[in-house]
Amino acid sequence: FYGAVISPESLTSYKALPRCLLSVGASGTIDWMVDDVQEHVLQETLAQKGCIDVDVITLPAGEFLLPGFIDTHTHAPQLPNLGSGQQHELLDWLSDVTFPMEAKFSDVEFARRTYESVVRRVINCGTTTCCYYGSLHLESTKVLADIVHASGQRAFVGKCNMDRNCPDYYVEASAEVSINETKQLISHIRSLASRPNAQSSSRPHLVQPILTPRFAISCTPELLTSLGKMASSDPSLHIQTHISENKAEIAFTKELFPDAPHYAGVYDSFGLLRPNTILAHAVHLEDTELELIAKRKAGISHCPTSNFNLSSGVAPIGVYLDRGIKVGLGTDVSGGFSPSILTCIQNASIASKILAIQAGTHGTSPTQFSNRQLPVATLLYLATLGGAEVCHIDKTVGSLAPGMSFDALLVNTRSIAGNPGLWSPDTDTPGKGKEALDGLLERFLFCGDDRNISRVYVEGRFIGGNNYRANN
Ligand code: GUN
Ligand code: FE
Repeated sequence: FYGAVISPESLTSYKALPRCLLSVGASGTIDWMVDDVQEHVLQETLAQKGCIDVDVITLPAGEFLLPGFIDTHTHAPQLPNLGSGQQHELLDWLSDVTFPMEAKFSDVEFARRTYESVVRRVINCGTTTCCYYGSLHLESTKVLADIVHASGQRAFVGKCNMDRNCPDYYVEASAEVSINETKQLISHIRSLASRPNAQSSSRPHLVQPILTPRFAISCTPELLTSLGKMASSDPSLHIQTHISENKAEIAFTKELFPDAPHYAGVYDSFGLLRPNTILAHAVHLEDTELELIAKRKAGISHCPTSNFNLSSGVAPIGVYLDRGIKVGLGTDVSGGFSPSILTCIQNASIASKILAIQAGTHGTSPTQFSNRQLPVATLLYLATLGGAEVCHIDKTVGSLAPGMSFDALLVNTRSIAGNPGLWSPDTDTPGKGKEALDGLLERFLFCGDDRNISRVYVEGRFIGGNNYRANN
């Protein structure tokens, strides 16, 4: 690729390289990048790198490469419910809206049809790595993993563990059944490594299993004990769950686990808090819970669209960042009403501004995130590298740099097929400098949508986006 590249560097900075030459190798990783290559030395630079007869994709003004988005928390079987039942708060929403829909995934053919469109839609939103909760059903969740594998998306897929406090029509028969089926799902997903996917058979597989105790309320101590044992016998196994989302949920959790010091302490007492644990929501954490989460190096999935939509509250993400806790973004479909991380970025910004308004602080701060609006650089970080840290894969993805996997988006801010672009050719044709790129990035994050994502790449493979949609 020859053109503009934007990539996060830290919570407060990103690289904006207007004239970058970036080379993706046969293995799908970035071989090298040369910054600031003037057009007249392009061929010479390629020759110096030993590149003869290579395809160079040249990006016109208004287009740039960005690392793919990482959705650290979503529910695949809830996508058909997007935008419905949003008058409820969490516990009523689960029983009146969510469990009835998830129960339909006992029908494997229904699951297949639905998950095909779910995965396609999530990829086209620019999500290159996704943490999916399936339903509680083993067979349907295997199908979800198969579809993700065939699509070429990077993902973690888990089936919900839930053996109590759920309706009779949607609950696992026992802790033993739950564990047994979880083990079967893990073996199935690990066996996908040897199965060819859409593009190639030679790559290590991109889909990994993840333990998914739905939340403390839905799990008996017996089930959590067995999940903790599975986790301790396999430190590489990821874990995802919900934490401190809603006040009524927290009160019920404390009733169920009276001996635990707090909500985080419940998970910790079963060995489920560790560096590859993803904790979704974390809206109402106590100070001592923050200490514990930081100590265990677990990550938080910030789900602001959902936290607003289910009236759960505003998570103080700035406080978590100041304490060095890993944070990524989650769409939490269908608590959240959009499968796009762009919507999540916009709501993360608004959430931070609400806390800043309440605290009477103005603007961003170079040294502190608590009670401050989050800068663009921080929002970009949370959507990419922060998500990779939460998923414990930041050595592989989350930024565009030599040695990283080419999981990337080709963003087009120009007008597309009759839709206006993100800048007006009459007033502000984008220049080729860094400042122009800063402006384009901010407009894309706040005003862009899936139409502006022309191509989605995972490990160098073109797997989705607006151009893909047009040709498939
Ligand atoms: N807590 C337990 N299950 C769920 C769920 O499906 N969505 C959300 N937002 N919170 C939960
Ligand atoms: Fe959720």
